[in-house]
Amino acid sequence: MLVSAKEMLEKARDGHYAVGQFNINNLEWTKAILMTAEELKSPVILGVSEGAGKYMTGYKTVVGMVNGMLEELKITVPVALHLDHGSYEGALKCIEAGFSSVMFDGSHYPIDENVEKTTELVKLCAEKGLSLEAEVGSIGGEEDGVVGMGEVADPAECKRIADLGVTMLAAGIGNIHGKYPENWPGLRFDALEAIKALTGSMPLVLHGGTGIPEDMIKKAISLGVAKINVNTECQLSFAAATREYIEAGKDLQGKGFDPRKLLAPGTEAIKATVKEKMELFGSIGKA
Ligand code: 13P
Repeated sequence: MLVSAKEMLEKARDGHYAVGQFNINNLEWTKAILMTAEELKSPVILGVSEGAGKYMTGYKTVVGMVNGMLEELKITVPVALHLDHGSYEGALKCIEAGFSSVMFDGSHYPIDENVEKTTELVKLCAEKGLSLEAEVGSIGGEEDGVVGMGEVADPAECKRIADLGVTMLAAGIGNIHGKYPENWPGLRFDALEAIKALTGSMPLVLHGGTGIPEDMIKKAISLGVAKINVNTECQLSFAAATREYIEAGKDLQGKGFDPRKLLAPGTEAIKATVKEKMELFGSIGKA
C-alpha cells in the first residue's frame, strides 16, 4: 500500500540520512526502482512530473500500475507516489487519482499567492492523510538550450511556507535540474543553514540531485536535507546502456529486438544508479 512521505522523511531527518525521490517514466523505470528499494530495504519516493503523467496516459494509469506492482512484487518497504513540481490543478487531479503525496510548486508566483494556494492544499492533503511538498525559490535548469542558474530562496519566505503545515520544503540553494554546467559555483550552504535555522524541524528537499558531488550531498544531508530528487541520472544510464546494446548489434541477433530484451540493459542500468544513490544518501536498511 502506498504511504504518505511524512513518516519516512521524519525518520530520515532524525537519522541523518535522505530518502531518494526517483522519477518514473514508464513500467521499466517503476519496476527497476521498486525492486531495488525492496532488495536494499530502503524507503523510496516515486516522482511523477506532470509531463511524465501525461506520457503514461494520465495519473489514474500511474496509480493503477504502481499499486499493481506493489502487490505483485510483494513490496514491503514504504513507498510514496508523489507528484513532482505540480501545478495547483495537477495537485488536485493527483489527490483525486490516488497519489499518496503531492508537490505544489508555487515558486514562480509572488509569495502571497504561493502562500494562499499552498494553504488550500495543506487543508486538502491533511483531510486525506497525504504529504505535501512546497517550494520557495525556483530551481534552475535548461530551457531552450540555455541553462538558468538556480535561485536562492529567501529564508523568511521559507519560514512563512513551512509554518503553513506542509510536510517538506524544497528551497532553491543554487541547485538546478539536469546536468550542471562547468562553471556551476556549487550549492549555497550559507543559504541552506539560514533556511534550516528558521524552519526548524521541517524536512528539506534537494532537487536536481543529478551530478551534485558526493561531498556536497553529504554536507546538505548534515544540514537538514531529508529528501533528494534524482531524475536525469537514471535517464542517462538507461540511454547509455540501451545505446551500448544497439551499437553492439544485439538487437539484430536472434530475438534481440524483443522489447523485453531490448529494454533489459537499460532497466538494469537504472537499478545500478538507484543503488548507488541509496548508498550515498544512507537510506539502505532503513525500511
Ligand atoms: P535531476 O533531473 O537533475 O536529477 O533533478 C530531478 C528533480 O529535481 C526532479 O524534481
